[in-house]
Amino acid sequence: MSNRRDFIKNSLLFAGAIGLGSKSLTAAPPLPNDATVDENYWKLVRAQFPLSHSKIFLNNGTMGPSPYSVLNEVQQEMLEIDSSGRYGGYEDTAIKSLALFLNTKDSEISLTRNVTEGINVVCWGLNLKAGDEVIMTGHEHVGHAAPWLNRAKLHGISIKILTLGKTASETIENLNKVISKKTKVISVPHIPCTIGYVLPVKEICKIAREKNIISFLDGAHPPGMLQLDLKDINCDLYAGCCHKWMLGPKGTGFLYVSENMRNQVQAYYGGGGFDTGWDMLSNPPSLKGYADNGHRYYYGTQNPALLKGISKAIEFQNQIGRDRIEARVKSLANYLQDHLINLSTDVEMLTPTESISKAAQVSFKIKDREMQKLQTQCGEKKIITRYVAENNINCLRVSTHIYNSFEEIDLFLKEVDTFLSLK
Ligand SMILES: Cc1ncc(COP(=O)(O)O)c(C=O)c1O
Repeated sequence: MSNRRDFIKNSLLFAGAIGLGSKSLTAAPPLPNDATVDENYWKLVRAQFPLSHSKIFLNNGTMGPSPYSVLNEVQQEMLEIDSSGRYGGYEDTAIKSLALFLNTKDSEISLTRNVTEGINVVCWGLNLKAGDEVIMTGHEHVGHAAPWLNRAKLHGISIKILTLGKTASETIENLNKVISKKTKVISVPHIPCTIGYVLPVKEICKIAREKNIISFLDGAHPPGMLQLDLKDINCDLYAGCCHKWMLGPKGTGFLYVSENMRNQVQAYYGGGGFDTGWDMLSNPPSLKGYADNGHRYYYGTQNPALLKGISKAIEFQNQIGRDRIEARVKSLANYLQDHLINLSTDVEMLTPTESISKAAQVSFKIKDREMQKLQTQCGEKKIITRYVAENNINCLRVSTHIYNSFEEIDLFLKEVDTFLSLK
């Protein structure tokens, strides 16, 4: 009897541990490949996610929920590893999937745990001295700002601020004014965490190249939102993650170091995989050299389940179609932006209205109002948004992804309307 009780107790503990307690992973209804892309299609897409039906999730910019296909893949691989004792594999597959997704060479991709990690690799790996200038914006996330500020504090590099204009051409004009003979790196977000501004990165990288300046983009948001093509952008370095718009496993990311930059970004962290050989028995003990690919910048034990999840997330995006995804997320955001602008003259739209400078995030303020209160009010109605406190902006950021609908945007707009009337 007691054995039976123990067995049931242990089974329940196991189910809880692998997440089968309150929410079990089920197969989602199949997503047709040849469906007409209408609102019903997007409802089917929504059904691929375990997202609670009582919530309206408009904060993909912080974290992207994964579809069942990714979650199942990760869970099955976790069980497989721990039941078979097998370890390893899938690194090459994940790198190949990422390289294809981003249009790079396999050898230019390093695996990271998040954007911040990739930024740190670059920030500490570049050979800069006191007085060298790095151009950033006044819209940085702590994960991009902190490494550079730390380098400024420890090594005396100088950070110069590029002011974002209302249009791409204004931003380029501002960039030309802030570049000096001392500028060594332009390190800016492709899309900052604040106002959904899509920076004119192709032009920025072109200017950098012409002036022999290194271009580095903080790409926390674009992968999975835009049809990103790093060769077309022609940046030197790009740090991204798979846990936002790519809808991949949490704690996964990548760093792109273009082939010609590999010898300019010194690997300071070393470990299994980063080397071409090492010998503790030679006199003196020696490191032969550094891996001639992206492995130079990551090392040690990886989680094969998460790596499989990255490839699955890319497969999911490809099945829907990256052009369709970009068009959908933009049309939801455009709808929201247009309606917000028309709601009241008190609405101050911070996201540019110029189409090349915006995508799937809309940020706005309301005259003389504390925007955190609107976030709280929406939260009470189970509408999840992001209050932006960074750099004293005091605005609300709304992200639109493929699991959102126009009805959800209307419900959010209703809350804004109520908030306006509560003045
Ligand atoms: C623009 C930007 N950069 C960097 C980061 C840091 O990303 P991670 O948490 O993956 O390190 C974020 C996170 O939201 C971000 O929005």
